Amino acid sequence: MSDLQITALFPTFLFFKDHPDPATLNAQLLEACNRLRERDPKGVGISNRGGWQSDDDINERSEFALFVSFVEDTMAEVKEFLTVEDQVTFRVATAWVNFNARRDYNVKHVHGNSFFSGVYYVKVPENAGHIKIFDPNPVRMCFHPPYKEVGPHNCFSQEFDPAEGRLVIFPGYVPHEVTPTMNDEERCSIAFNVVIG
Ligand SMILES: [Fe+2]
Repeated sequence: MSDLQITALFPTFLFFKDHPDPATLNAQLLEACNRLRERDPKGVGISNRGGWQSDDDINERSEFALFVSFVEDTMAEVKEFLTVEDQVTFRVATAWVNFNARRDYNVKHVHGNSFFSGVYYVKVPENAGHIKIFDPNPVRMCFHPPYKEVGPHNCFSQEFDPAEGRLVIFPGYVPHEVTPTMNDEERCSIAFNVVIG
């Protein structure tokens, strides 16, 4: 038995939470997302290649209030875990809808001026794109040995499966991308930024 002592000093935390009743919430959200697209079929182009993306103010619309509450309630748990002082509050500052169909994807990016960011999955068909998270310290990639096994302790990137009703939260500075959806049926998600206060 080795007496080597190990500490993970500057870990990158990702938080996952599955909604307790995703079917009801997602039926409402999908309808609201479809209505937004009907009103603005062109949408905006930011990290998306193909697909459709809404303006980033949907958090101010009443039909997305339950989604905002789910994120902010989860951020209260994150705040507890991080031992943030009681008087600090986290709120969703911006949020936007993404529809990706066959071959649509989102290029690698970070979310500027955002303490935490994330995504909530409204609709996930078979072979929908995955979120791929990259090490925010790219210097590690410059010099490294070959590894017998790759896992969270030594990898440079990691993909995570989407699932309807799942919320994923990560620091805004963490680079990420969305791999192509390989299904004619659309994938629908809501991305967001959380700020302090
Ligand atoms: Fe993003």
